[in-house]
Amino acid sequence: MTDDDKVPAAELYTEAFAADPYPTFARLRTERPVCPVGSPRFDSWLITRFDDARAALTDPRLSKDLYGPDQHYLRIFGPNSEGLNRNMLNSDPPEHTRLRRVVSQAFAPRRIEALRPRVAVIVDHLIDKIVPQGESDLMHDFAIPLPMTVICELLGVPPADHGRVLDWTQVIRTSGSTSRPPAEERAAVQEAQLRLHHYLADLVRAKRDDPADDIIGALVRAVDLDGTLSEAELVTTTFLLLFAGHQTTADFLGNAVLALLTHPEQLELLRATPRLLPAAIEELLRFDGPLPVASPRVATEDIDYQGVRIPRGSIVGVAINAANHDPGHFADPDRLDVRRVRGPHLGFGHGVHYCLGVSLARMEAELALSALLRRLPGLRLGVPLAEVRRLPAASPFRGLLELPVTF
Ligand code: HEM
Repeated sequence: MTDDDKVPAAELYTEAFAADPYPTFARLRTERPVCPVGSPRFDSWLITRFDDARAALTDPRLSKDLYGPDQHYLRIFGPNSEGLNRNMLNSDPPEHTRLRRVVSQAFAPRRIEALRPRVAVIVDHLIDKIVPQGESDLMHDFAIPLPMTVICELLGVPPADHGRVLDWTQVIRTSGSTSRPPAEERAAVQEAQLRLHHYLADLVRAKRDDPADDIIGALVRAVDLDGTLSEAELVTTTFLLLFAGHQTTADFLGNAVLALLTHPEQLELLRATPRLLPAAIEELLRFDGPLPVASPRVATEDIDYQGVRIPRGSIVGVAINAANHDPGHFADPDRLDVRRVRGPHLGFGHGVHYCLGVSLARMEAELALSALLRRLPGLRLGVPLAEVRRLPAASPFRGLLELPVTF
């Protein structure tokens, strides 16, 4: 591709795009449904129509094996990333199958359902602390600590360590949003990753000496029993569960509350008819999901989509949030409608990498949103919408840095 063919980074990664990417996604879907884009992180191709996106997520020619002989990870994560990122999300079957099988039981719907009472206690405890204040930054006080506490408890991270684990993951999540120069910012992220890596490696070792009834304990036992995972894979799997297990849920909760506060008639409808909540959660995820583009895939051969050739070796991004606003699949897609009949949205992905934590995410969202609506009846945005601070447009995640509210 020549630079002239690309959608330039300056067009896509603007503050206006961060505030509302959907007009740009709509234009791309219509005019350039398969197109190369320049990006501050790495050049890639973007697929924006629903049918193409769903097909791409199961296309075996689009590989997730970033750590294979071609070492695609170097372009995406840079050197020294194996310690954390060489996990199931970045692998193809049969490696992927082997890595996913070990943890899939722990996230099975029945196992997750058994956690409901404990998650409800965590939700209530966080809201108890917010209520007397009359105002809150809901990201800081609720949306981030809720899934973080849940996944830390599930994994078996000791409570005394939750704070520093949270600090490291937040440095990674908010990268690009501080006023630090880019080189300093990159160094801070690398430092946080390194510390987290060492911490998780130590934790895994400690669980081996003192076996516990938690997910890391179960992984250690599985390794000892039949060597299913290597020691390094144990750490990368733990990192994936920790990061995927709170980041997306936190951003989803923030986006969902903001969407409801800026669509008061939908909020009132939901308050009046709580049984709409499960469908509303799917609609909120479709409307403004936390993972705008699925994690990177690589074309293992030249591939045609919409008659456009994506050359072998290209990095390909499946634009989930663009696909979820495709009018060919969702009538009036830019309208939030909590009564919309559940559509087959792509918010949890599709194919073998379909979200492992889907039951947990839905349960957390259900308990969180129902408690917020019930216990903070006067909930409203504390600043004008334009002043809500968001993650930068170039972030792989779509979420808020702060969500100031009053009630
Ligand atoms: C994968 C979304 C919560 C664990 C994925 C994928 C998506 C997604 C779109 C596929 C990525 C791709 O194909 O590139 C979400 C959303 C969540 C959420 C929107 C919250 C609203 C969770 C939670 C966990 C989790 C709570 C708990 C551990 C994972 C894992 C994968 C994954 C391990 C990789 C699966 C694989 O490679 O086989 N998620 N997720 N997610 N998610 Fe989630």
